[in-house]
Amino acid sequence: MSTHIGAEPGQIAERVLMPGDPLRAKWIAETYLEDATCYSTVRGMYGFTGRWSGVEVSVQGSGMGMPSASIYAHELINEYGAKSLIRVGSCGALSDDLKLRDVIAASGSSTDSNMNRFRFDGLIDYAPVADFGLLRTSVEVAERRQIAMRVGPILAADAFYTDRPDLYDRLADYGVLAVEMESAALYTIAARFKARALTLLTVSDHIKTGEKTTAQEREQTFGQMVEVALDTIIA
Ligand code: HPA
Repeated sequence: MSTHIGAEPGQIAERVLMPGDPLRAKWIAETYLEDATCYSTVRGMYGFTGRWSGVEVSVQGSGMGMPSASIYAHELINEYGAKSLIRVGSCGALSDDLKLRDVIAASGSSTDSNMNRFRFDGLIDYAPVADFGLLRTSVEVAERRQIAMRVGPILAADAFYTDRPDLYDRLADYGVLAVEMESAALYTIAARFKARALTLLTVSDHIKTGEKTTAQEREQTFGQMVEVALDTIIA
């Protein structure tokens, strides 16, 4: 096993979906994958491998926030040979023209995290971006499935509860669609270790209006997004 994942070499597929919530990983495996088996329960951060349309796919919980997601992305790529990682998560909308339950593909991710400043000695504002091939495929899959999907930049924030809502407004002025807490680290680590990464999100709450989805609505839209992610990762 690696430090945080209790799998033997070969038990994790090259294609991995990464929800933040480990119970979502279990739900995805049980709902969508054929012959899914659980390869890790370490720290309750479940991981499963099964098949989607005959192709081996794993689903690994990443936890919340960039420190946690970085650990799983790093070990999946470097210890288990993962080549394609798609985060499937939720986000808060910053843009006025997004609605609850909308699906977003994050083309790029700004961040208030210090991780990349540290990585580049504070000298470079590195721009974490999605893998273009995965992004393009996800757009094609969403069109084929007739799921309206917005493509654009998001913010990966360190804190869920912010003291600076004014900065969210300013980011919206600059075209940033939504806020979540993992994508910048995922994109950076995938780039560093030559893997491909994408983040797909559903809008679970609206930062400006304060609206929130119900648990049932979240499950339904989450399912549509997972189907886009699965078709994309096996393409
Ligand atoms: N902030 C950060 N991450 C999130 C949010 C939010 O409002 N909603 C869902 N993920």
